[in-house]
Amino acid sequence: MPRVTATRRLRFNAAHRVHNPVLSDHENATLFGKCNNPNWHGHNYILDVSVTGEIDPKTGYVLDLGRVRDIVTRTVLEKVDHKNFNLDVDFMRGVIPTSENIVVEFWKALAPALLPARLSRLVLWETENNAVEYHGE
Ligand code: NI
Repeated sequence: MPRVTATRRLRFNAAHRVHNPVLSDHENATLFGKCNNPNWHGHNYILDVSVTGEIDPKTGYVLDLGRVRDIVTRTVLEKVDHKNFNLDVDFMRGVIPTSENIVVEFWKALAPALLPARLSRLVLWETENNAVEYHGE
Protein backbone atom coordinates (compact mmCIF):
# COMPACT_ATOMS: atom_id res chain seq x y z
CA MET A 1 0.00 0.00 0.00
CA PRO A 2 1.28 3.49 -0.75
CA ARG A 3 2.23 5.54 2.29
CA VAL A 4 1.12 9.16 2.15
CA THR A 5 1.78 12.17 4.38
CA ALA A 6 -1.21 14.44 5.05
CA THR A 7 -0.80 17.87 6.63
CA ARG A 8 -3.23 20.11 8.48
CA ARG A 9 -2.37 23.78 9.07
CA LEU A 10 -3.61 25.48 12.23
CA ARG A 11 -3.16 28.98 13.56
CA PHE A 12 -2.93 30.49 17.00
CA ASN A 13 -1.48 33.54 18.64
CA ALA A 14 0.41 33.77 21.89
CA ALA A 15 2.75 35.96 23.88
CA HIS A 16 6.16 35.11 25.22
CA ARG A 17 9.45 36.41 26.49
CA VAL A 18 12.59 34.52 25.50
CA HIS A 19 14.63 34.64 28.69
CA ASN A 20 17.02 32.29 30.44
CA PRO A 21 16.79 32.89 34.21
CA VAL A 22 20.29 31.52 34.86
CA LEU A 23 21.82 34.34 32.80
CA SER A 24 22.12 38.02 33.75
CA ASP A 25 19.71 40.60 32.36
CA HIS A 26 22.53 41.95 30.22
CA GLU A 27 23.39 38.52 28.81
CA ASN A 28 19.72 37.85 28.10
CA ALA A 29 19.30 41.18 26.31
CA THR A 30 22.43 40.55 24.24
CA LEU A 31 21.49 36.98 23.39
CA PHE A 32 17.79 37.37 22.65
CA GLY A 33 17.43 41.03 21.59
CA LYS A 34 13.84 42.17 21.11
CA CYS A 35 12.50 38.73 22.05
CA ASN A 36 13.81 39.39 25.60
CA ASN A 37 11.52 42.42 26.09
CA PRO A 38 10.42 42.20 29.77
CA ASN A 39 6.83 43.21 28.97
CA TRP A 40 6.27 40.38 26.47
CA HIS A 41 5.46 40.41 22.77
CA GLY A 42 3.29 38.22 20.61
CA HIS A 43 3.37 36.15 17.46
CA ASN A 44 0.78 34.85 15.04
CA TYR A 45 2.00 31.26 14.92
CA ILE A 46 1.27 28.72 12.21
CA LEU A 47 1.51 25.02 13.06
CA ASP A 48 1.66 22.38 10.32
CA VAL A 49 0.82 18.91 11.62
CA SER A 50 1.64 15.92 9.40
CA VAL A 51 0.56 12.32 9.77
CA THR A 52 1.99 9.53 7.63
CA GLY A 53 0.46 6.16 6.89
CA GLU A 54 -1.27 3.88 4.48
CA ILE A 55 -4.49 4.99 2.87
CA ASP A 56 -7.53 3.58 4.67
CA PRO A 57 -9.41 1.63 1.97
CA LYS A 58 -12.73 2.50 3.61
CA THR A 59 -12.27 6.30 3.57
CA GLY A 60 -9.48 6.93 1.08
CA TYR A 61 -7.77 9.00 3.78
CA VAL A 62 -4.61 8.51 5.81
CA LEU A 63 -6.55 10.24 8.58
CA ASP A 64 -9.44 12.67 8.23
CA LEU A 65 -7.76 16.09 8.54
CA GLY A 66 -10.84 17.36 10.35
CA ARG A 67 -10.02 14.86 13.07
CA VAL A 68 -6.41 16.07 13.09
CA ARG A 69 -7.71 19.62 13.54
CA ASP A 70 -9.97 18.55 16.43
CA ILE A 71 -7.28 16.56 18.23
CA VAL A 72 -4.64 19.30 17.86
CA THR A 73 -7.10 21.97 18.98
CA ARG A 74 -8.13 20.02 22.07
CA THR A 75 -4.65 18.76 22.98
CA VAL A 76 -2.52 21.89 22.55
CA LEU A 77 -4.17 24.88 20.90
CA GLU A 78 -6.80 25.44 23.57
CA LYS A 79 -3.95 25.59 26.10
CA VAL A 80 -1.86 28.15 24.21
CA ASP A 81 -4.12 30.27 21.99
CA HIS A 82 -4.38 33.85 23.32
CA LYS A 83 -2.13 32.81 26.21
CA ASN A 84 1.32 33.70 27.49
CA PHE A 85 3.81 30.84 27.07
CA ASN A 86 5.82 31.97 30.11
CA LEU A 87 2.88 32.34 32.50
CA ASP A 88 -0.17 30.41 31.35
CA VAL A 89 0.95 27.14 29.80
CA ASP A 90 1.48 24.24 32.21
CA PHE A 91 3.62 22.12 29.88
CA MET A 92 6.01 25.05 29.22
CA ARG A 93 6.83 25.62 32.88
CA GLY A 94 10.61 25.92 33.28
CA VAL A 95 11.17 25.80 29.52
CA ILE A 96 12.54 28.79 27.54
CA PRO A 97 9.68 29.44 25.10
CA THR A 98 11.61 29.43 21.84
CA SER A 99 9.91 27.85 18.84
CA GLU A 100 12.37 24.95 19.12
CA ASN A 101 11.24 24.16 22.67
CA ILE A 102 7.57 24.78 21.90
CA VAL A 103 7.57 22.36 18.96
CA VAL A 104 9.17 19.61 21.08
CA GLU A 105 6.59 20.07 23.86
CA PHE A 106 3.79 20.04 21.29
CA TRP A 107 5.15 16.76 19.92
CA LYS A 108 5.14 15.11 23.35
CA ALA A 109 1.45 15.94 23.70
CA LEU A 110 0.37 15.28 20.11
CA ALA A 111 2.13 12.02 19.24
CA PRO A 112 0.14 9.96 21.78
CA ALA A 113 -3.08 11.91 21.14
CA LEU A 114 -2.99 11.12 17.40
CA LEU A 115 -2.42 7.36 17.82
CA PRO A 116 -2.94 5.01 16.07
CA ALA A 117 -2.04 7.54 13.34
CA ARG A 118 1.68 8.28 13.21
CA LEU A 119 2.67 11.90 13.73
CA SER A 120 5.58 12.33 11.31
CA ARG A 121 6.36 16.05 11.27
CA LEU A 122 5.58 19.31 13.02
CA VAL A 123 6.51 22.68 11.57
CA LEU A 124 6.02 25.74 13.74
CA TRP A 125 6.15 29.12 12.02
CA GLU A 126 6.85 31.99 14.42
CA THR A 127 6.98 34.57 11.65
CA GLU A 128 6.62 34.28 7.90
CA ASN A 129 10.43 34.03 7.73
CA ASN A 130 11.25 31.78 10.71
CA ALA A 131 10.15 28.19 11.18
CA VAL A 132 11.32 25.14 13.09
CA GLU A 133 10.69 21.55 12.11
CA TYR A 134 10.65 18.43 14.29
CA HIS A 135 10.31 14.75 13.49
CA GLY A 136 10.32 13.37 17.01
CA GLU A 137 13.98 12.31 17.10
NI1 NI B 1 9.32 36.22 19.97
